[in-house]
Amino acid sequence: MEQLNQDVKDKLEKVCVCRGITKESIKNSIRNGNKTVEAVAEDTGATKGGCKGFRCKGKIEDLIAEFGTEWN
Ligand code: FES
Repeated sequence: MEQLNQDVKDKLEKVCVCRGITKESIKNSIRNGNKTVEAVAEDTGATKGGCKGFRCKGKIEDLIAEFGTEWN
């Protein structure tokens, strides 16, 4: 149930607000082997919106730090 709640939250939460990229998309990208902000950005389109990553780069870095090694 807790995992289900987290999955729903990940679908709703926007990491990159400018481009409307969800936490689910960012986590999937990391899971698929993208372990740097640049690689995740290239894969998802995050950081390429109006603020040029000002608001989302830090959040992506945090997600890579949290999940990048877990999903090697
Ligand atoms: S929030 Fe990601 S580019 Fe602005």
